[in-house]
Amino acid sequence: AAPDLEDIVRLCKQRGFVFPSAEIYGGFRSTYDYGPLGVLMLRNVKQAWWRSMVQLRHDVVGLDAAVLSSPRIWEASGHLANFTDPLVDCRNCKERWRADHLEPGDDGVVHCPNCGSTDLTEARAFNMMFKTHVGPVEEEGSEAYLRPETAQGHFVNFLNVLQSSRKRPPFGIAQIGKSFRNEITPGNFVFRTREFEQMELEFFVPPAEADRWFEYWCHERLEWYVDLGIPRDLLRLRHHDKEELSHYSSGTADVEFRFPWGWGELEGIANRSDYDLRAHSEASGTRLEYFEQASGERYTPWVIEPAAGATRTMMAFLIAAWDSDEVGGESRSLLRLHPRIAPYQVAVLPLSRKETLVPVAHEVLGLLQPLVMCDYDETQSIGRRYRRQDEIGTPLCVTVDFDSLEDRGVTIRDRDTTEQVRVPIDALVTEITSRLAR
Ligand code: GAP
Repeated sequence: AAPDLEDIVRLCKQRGFVFPSAEIYGGFRSTYDYGPLGVLMLRNVKQAWWRSMVQLRHDVVGLDAAVLSSPRIWEASGHLANFTDPLVDCRNCKERWRADHLEPGDDGVVHCPNCGSTDLTEARAFNMMFKTHVGPVEEEGSEAYLRPETAQGHFVNFLNVLQSSRKRPPFGIAQIGKSFRNEITPGNFVFRTREFEQMELEFFVPPAEADRWFEYWCHERLEWYVDLGIPRDLLRLRHHDKEELSHYSSGTADVEFRFPWGWGELEGIANRSDYDLRAHSEASGTRLEYFEQASGERYTPWVIEPAAGATRTMMAFLIAAWDSDEVGGESRSLLRLHPRIAPYQVAVLPLSRKETLVPVAHEVLGLLQPLVMCDYDETQSIGRRYRRQDEIGTPLCVTVDFDSLEDRGVTIRDRDTTEQVRVPIDALVTEITSRLAR
């Protein structure tokens, strides 16, 4: 059966994927900390994105721009004026709501979801950017913003990257990092938080090729989730209506995932036209253009932007991988995570803690650790240790037993089939590598 949100929250806490932040102080406003398994899995999500978007391509380069950013960037980009949500206050209980999250009740009137009052203010625009001050004095001119998207770093560095990398359109700049939004109503665990991680590509193209590249990236990005194990029927591509478009977009499609509460966005693919490069050219006086030497033509490239959320994608992978079956008449819970996404790829398990087995187990660990992330566990019965690894999604277990001392062999056990095969230690690296690459 599909998990509900509570199942996922419980798994995350118990197994060390995600903890409520500042829990010993009662938590802190929908912030979360990534634990030992979460940090591995989140890294794997980001690494899988980087591999597909940068490593396996010749037309994309990377960037890691500052989080703390100049108000001039956000003024030019339109975020200071437009990056707002409509906010409504309840005059009775003082709770605040996003106006577009409120529905009229059976009586046709909007009620406060907290106290039921109908005494609500008119909606007012609330800017979602976090503002802070740089330097010791909080004065005008010292303001800075935490970026609400990693994009803009790409645009303001357009010329730096163009000149230093010798790329030419069509080419892209990829960036992964934290973004911050003062969301009025964060919720659904790590789906909507005020601090989150994004994986964004800004792909610069000749204007006449924009539509073709938009279609290309919609297809590529949907397939990325499928390739990493999310069943196709849990995914869909949804095109935005005109009214729904962000201030910078002339066309957007979302990759959506079927979360326990319904369809939710994992990623937006937007045609940002030449909106950003033009805006920054005008505001800064620096012409952010491309000069095509062969034709003598100068133009402002258009931008196709696949923008994904790493933290919410990690949750989608957990939900999609959630499964249970029966082994030897006993039910078991498992995460059928793709090997590239699972926190650990291999667990090394000596059958017992006997002194004779431990050196061989350490030898095996030493062979595998340079290649993949390994867990090591020598306590409890082997059956319980297998179950534990199933529950956290480890694709392969390697067991060292007393025969290993005689035959220099170990047993590889597969998470999905529970099948076990004997392999010589000398052949282990080749065998593990080929099984994980399947
Ligand atoms: N640069 C374009 C941009 O930021 P977006 O659709 O606002 O577009 C892209 O954000 C992705 O970032 C979303 O699809 C989502 O996965 C993630 N994201 C946005 N706001 C988020 C939040 N408050 N919490 C978690 N993830 C968020």
